[in-house]
Amino acid sequence: MEILHVSAECYPVAKAGGLGDVVGALPKYLNEAGHIAKVVMPMYRTKFLYANQWDVVHKGYTNLGNWWFEFTVIRERDNILGFDLYLVDINGLLDREKVYGYADDTERFTAFQIAVLDWVKDWQHTPDIIHVHDHHTALIPFMLRHSYKYRSIAGIRTVLTIHNAQYQGWMGWDQSIFIPPYDMWQWGLLEWNKNINPLAAGIKCADKVTTVSPSYLEELKYMSNGLEALFEYEKGKCYGILNGIDVKVWDPETDDYLVHRYGLSDIEAGKAKNKMQLCDQFSLDFDKPLIGFIGRLVGEKGADLLPQAIRDSLNHIGRRMNFLVLGSGFPEVEAALQAIKPLSQYDYNVYIGYHEGLSHTMYAGMDFLLMPSRVEPCGLNQMYSMRYGTVPMVRRTGGLKDTVIDYGDPGGYGICYDNASVGDITQAIWRATELYHQKDTVKQIRKQMMQLDFSWENSVQQYIEVYQAAIG
Ligand code: ADP
Ligand code: GLC
Repeated sequence: MEILHVSAECYPVAKAGGLGDVVGALPKYLNEAGHIAKVVMPMYRTKFLYANQWDVVHKGYTNLGNWWFEFTVIRERDNILGFDLYLVDINGLLDREKVYGYADDTERFTAFQIAVLDWVKDWQHTPDIIHVHDHHTALIPFMLRHSYKYRSIAGIRTVLTIHNAQYQGWMGWDQSIFIPPYDMWQWGLLEWNKNINPLAAGIKCADKVTTVSPSYLEELKYMSNGLEALFEYEKGKCYGILNGIDVKVWDPETDDYLVHRYGLSDIEAGKAKNKMQLCDQFSLDFDKPLIGFIGRLVGEKGADLLPQAIRDSLNHIGRRMNFLVLGSGFPEVEAALQAIKPLSQYDYNVYIGYHEGLSHTMYAGMDFLLMPSRVEPCGLNQMYSMRYGTVPMVRRTGGLKDTVIDYGDPGGYGICYDNASVGDITQAIWRATELYHQKDTVKQIRKQMMQLDFSWENSVQQYIEVYQAAIG
């Protein structure tokens, strides 16, 4: 089978979060399973672009409403990612450094999707499946099926993966001129709640829909930012498939970002060296448990609860632990986290920003990773932390529920709680400090976690079954 992934992110080309990690790994493992998977994404001006060799494979001329533009498709020459990687360049729209966050994101991603379909239409052969990810590419199933322009390729099957249904890409009807002329009888497929909703259109029009964990699919039926009824209605074509992690990239034995690498045979010594490195760098106390947070500082991740939970813990649990936070997001949360620093110089620190290397050292050097997410479609951090022997402290939701078992339950290894609240987080922190001092239990849990299998192989088989079902 040939599968073309269309995505806004792909690690290591451009990554804003877990979507990038997934699209950077799933195609590689599909290829290893004997299929042909390729990725096409926008040509942002990132380091990866300038560091690699490219061939121009297509040039086209098309339009976004009244605006006509040229686009170029280039292919990475050496197949260094383990799959064919194509970038689409559109001057004036995609030639920027960041992935998202621009006022014209709707124009940028709609133009990108049109360019991709124009290019596929001109290919000598077509893929069996076009696999789109999240709302940035979710108009493709509609355009492919109902825009007159793409009639010759309308038979290609489509799969939509929802990594996060909170973001839906809402557009006003005045922006409907961006969509290439389509069968007007089908306008209702674009509509949700009186506007154009690209994610909803994708759910309605894709042959199959997947979410990134089974529990998240269930949750979407009663909590999906307005799409609950749609998920209930379309449940027959929806599948929950847990993400894997790229165990070749995320391996403490070979991780290039780590100064001190380690494996199963020297977990304790290896983790201690990494912890020492973090403690030196951030003025923390090696002897106390190190509890960290890595991620977007947004409500979805429960990041707004962190400042109070950290302050309460430092004040009331007698300064028995250290905290280290890495992230960026809402300015109020960033400021509240910065404000703790002068009060707790040797048991708290924060790095505001995105730092891939530091995240790896933290997964290796921390004792615990806090994830008080309100919504977590899958979550990769908890799987990375377990692979590096760090105990995850997670709220029972979405993919966190599917991957972490509380250490108090049979076969368990993590710390779980039910509510995204300051009270539940501080209680989890208290449990972590207690657990930390049960040295033998911690050793056994670390060993157990590092042997858990979160690799892509299993999930890849489930995707293949979904593709086969889509083809019928
Ligand atoms: P989401 O995609 O919702 O942000 P995931 O858990 O799926 O959450 O993936 C987050 C990914 O982004 C992980 O690879 C994590 O290590 C990384 N990440 C998040 N914030 C940062 C940061 N500030 N610096 C480095 N890596 C980060
Ligand atoms: C989204 C979700 C996250 C998931 C990631 C990759 O960003 O918020 O939970 O792990 O996509 O699928």
